[in-house]
Amino acid sequence: MARIVGGIGTTHVPAIGNAIAKGLQNDPYWQPFFGGFGKAHEWLRQVRPDVVVVLYNDHGLNFFLDKMPTFAIGAAKEYQHADEGWGLPVAQPYPGDPAFSWHLIEQLVENEFDVTICQEMLVDHAFTIPHALLWPEPNARPVRTIPISINTVQHPLPSPARCFKFGQAIGRAIESYDADVNVLVLGTGGLSHQLDGERAGFINKDFDLMCLDKLVSDPQALARYSSLQIVEAAGSQGVELLNWIAMRGALTGAVSKVHGNYHIPISNTASALLVLDNQPAEQFRKAG
Ligand code: DHB
Ligand code: FE
Repeated sequence: MARIVGGIGTTHVPAIGNAIAKGLQNDPYWQPFFGGFGKAHEWLRQVRPDVVVVLYNDHGLNFFLDKMPTFAIGAAKEYQHADEGWGLPVAQPYPGDPAFSWHLIEQLVENEFDVTICQEMLVDHAFTIPHALLWPEPNARPVRTIPISINTVQHPLPSPARCFKFGQAIGRAIESYDADVNVLVLGTGGLSHQLDGERAGFINKDFDLMCLDKLVSDPQALARYSSLQIVEAAGSQGVELLNWIAMRGALTGAVSKVHGNYHIPISNTASALLVLDNQPAEQFRKAG
């Protein structure tokens, strides 16, 4: 059966992609951010994921305000990136895993998550930047990908409790897939930031650090907020935290923190990285 090896949460700021394109990783502005990824690379070499399920939000490339699914999942052979207007180089396509996608879709619908099914799906910076951070060799495609988008853009947004339950349903669906594959769950975006309006530039370090702590040990505490309370505490784009909450929901076993990094600011955003190991429940019971 498929095994969930762990979860990673990371920021997806477009400027990171431009820094990569220009080779600025060791520049004094960027080093505290990129320097955080060495331990994530080391852990990925140990756990060797075959497939990454990416929980992210689309910013207007594939979905726009006229049609915005709350939850959507890709079922394509490959996923294309396109010019989003951030000046980013357009990335080579990412290989999908349609059979695995359809298994997840069937399980999610069976479990009352009526996801929008996308047999074509353009993936934006919220998908491509984390991929480039975790697998930095140019055009590296060492994992198959399953994109799952959560609406963090057009209100009303799903609640943190709903996103946590969505993640739990994804986790159960992954573990019921009859294939010998290692799966990484990736949640992207955040942490606190607001790009426009009166509070443009808003960052809330105390709230972010509390979230990073609760994501490890007590994710249900975050599920007690409403989405609007998260907007208030973390900024109107800080609510991308919903993707991280769903990622944590998918980790069904014994979860421990491998590594974390927090650095302010990257562009307008409090940047963060969290690497979580997941020991599958059965193994956990044996160990206990
Ligand atoms: C920025 C952050 C984001 O999450 C995003 O999607 C776009 C821009 C920023 O801080 O510049
Ligand atoms: Fe974003």
